[in-house]
Amino acid sequence: MNGDDYGHADTAADGTDRLVGAEAESDESAVEAALRPRELSEFIGQSKVREQLDLVLKAARRRGGTADHVLLSGAPGLGKTTLSMIIAAEMSAPIRITSGPAIQHAGDLAAILSSLQEGEILFLDEIHRMSRPAEEMLYMAMEDYRVDVIVGKGPGATAIPLELPPFTLVGATTRAGLLPPPLRDRFGFTAHMEFYEPGELEQVVHRSARLLDVRTDAEGATEIAGRSRGTPRIANRLLRRVRDYAQVKADGMIDRDIASRALAVYEVDERGLDRLDRAVLGALLKLFGGGPVGLSTLSVAVGEERETVEEVAEPFLVREGLLARTPRGRIATPAAWDHLGLARPPQSPGSPAGTRQQGLFGE
Ligand SMILES: Nc1ncnc2c1ncn2[C@@H]1O[C@H](COP(=O)(O)OP(=O)(O)OP(=O)(O)O)[C@@H](O)[C@H]1O
Ligand SMILES: [Mg+2]
Repeated sequence: MNGDDYGHADTAADGTDRLVGAEAESDESAVEAALRPRELSEFIGQSKVREQLDLVLKAARRRGGTADHVLLSGAPGLGKTTLSMIIAAEMSAPIRITSGPAIQHAGDLAAILSSLQEGEILFLDEIHRMSRPAEEMLYMAMEDYRVDVIVGKGPGATAIPLELPPFTLVGATTRAGLLPPPLRDRFGFTAHMEFYEPGELEQVVHRSARLLDVRTDAEGATEIAGRSRGTPRIANRLLRRVRDYAQVKADGMIDRDIASRALAVYEVDERGLDRLDRAVLGALLKLFGGGPVGLSTLSVAVGEERETVEEVAEPFLVREGLLARTPRGRIATPAAWDHLGLARPPQSPGSPAGTRQQGLFGE
């Protein structure tokens, strides 16, 4: 797996509509749009990206030109779509929104490109999923503001060059590692979006609570932020579920107690693990003594597909340092025992003795 790859399924694997899933749910777009920051100064966290982007945009404005092409790379729900709209707002430019999968043929892309206005922002979401011929057309468009439109078929086909007005391409991808280097190289600036710190997510929760007209105190926001897996989309989603609970079971005010009771109902624990995550971790610890155990065995033990365990549960467990993937199979870290409140076995990895059984269950 590539370092820029966040290891989640491209297709909807089981469990994508879970509360702590980072991908947007199908009915989430309206509420998300309402919570989007509109200006760079309103955008919380990502201070490096914000500073860099601010320079890129200010310089372009000062020159009176269009900004360089920008690639936004990062895990789902970190704010790529939000930033693309902020770029358009900051440049006072119109924005055209499309996505890699929507562009089946080079002709589709030619039609979009040739109708752009000068200075327009073209937002190409999931740019890693564009077809090959469209990608090649994009190279030339990005570099020379030109496309060759092919007219006719077979030996009689001719390429008619078409001049394009200068525009700014903003590409977004969760899998930067899948982009061909010639495409990656044509972006003047790449923003690498990181997971958010708890303090930043608290700010996100406070801001969204204000917009949703929900009252929350500092500890309530801390409680929600701590379970949001470093992801604003999840923070906003948990906030909405906690709000429901507060309105039905209490007077609508969110404090620490309400937040933790609400999230207990939804089976999201203090660290943001949900039922599936804990099932995987629980099986690894209780049935296999912390591993190493093969992925197939582990999947059968929790009654899930291999892909679900590998692509839905494991990435976050690995990121949290609770589980490690080794050539001999999956192993739990000492933190995993602590998190589930189980005593570390004398021979568990990281224990003073340090030695481990050979891979009884390893693949
Ligand atoms: N820095 C931020 N400050 C405040 N809210 C944010 C921030 N980043 C993201 N959000 C909120 O999180 C939600 C998801 O953000 P967005 O749609 O931009 O993510 P994305 O990176 O485009 O995700 P995907 O990869 O699924 O397309 C939005 O509702 C947005 O309001
Ligand atoms: Mg998006």
